Amino acid sequence: QIGGVIFDLDGVLTDTAEYHYRGWQKLADEEGIPFDRQKNDLLRGLPRRESLLAILGDCTVTEDQLQEMMERKNRYYVQLIEEITPADLLPGVNELLEELQQKEIKIAIASASKNAQTVIERLGIGHLIDVICDGYSVQRSKPAPDLFLYAACQLDLTPDQCIVVEDAASGIDAASLAGMLTVGLGPVERLGKANLVLPNLENVHWADLIAGLSPKAK
Ligand code: G6P
Ligand code: MG
Repeated sequence: QIGGVIFDLDGVLTDTAEYHYRGWQKLADEEGIPFDRQKNDLLRGLPRRESLLAILGDCTVTEDQLQEMMERKNRYYVQLIEEITPADLLPGVNELLEELQQKEIKIAIASASKNAQTVIERLGIGHLIDVICDGYSVQRSKPAPDLFLYAACQLDLTPDQCIVVEDAASGIDAASLAGMLTVGLGPVERLGKANLVLPNLENVHWADLIAGLSPKAK
């Protein structure tokens, strides 16, 4: 019996994945490091530090330089998210959240971002969310299962009562390790490991999720 849905934030409820990308691209350009959207796709869902280390690759930098670059990217990102309004919710998101609330299905956000609270406030969906877990909630980040297990715990549900909705391969891995059913949003090439893959949440209803995730659908 499913009792809750745990949503990733960036790239699932709103297109902040694009803003993260732009922030990293600007930094990489300034540093003369080759970077593009394809490389960025591998960073989806990874925390700030891991993302930067992946971008730097073989370039060695001091801890101070690393800190400065993380702060710089975050400044670019924070500037971009200042512009977010409820109009930036991706298609179908508000409808699905309202339907879940009506059906008394609990809702959590589980994001690796330290900016998650701000983004949720700006999107105006705080009243629909039961629990927010963010970049401050646990030590080990996705693909470790910790953030999703923490979210389930906060919702007072067991892992097998939860569905996770993610746009990142690392997030699908984390949710599978946590023992949860997974919905991947985006191309099959990226999300092939999810139990159900959808392009986005437009016109997606509770019944579609349940039907798509049922063993018979396989
Ligand atoms: C999310 C995004 C990542 C981002 C991470 C940390 O998981 O998908 O792209 O790097 O959060 O975000 P932060 O806002 O703390 O830098
Ligand atoms: Mg994401």
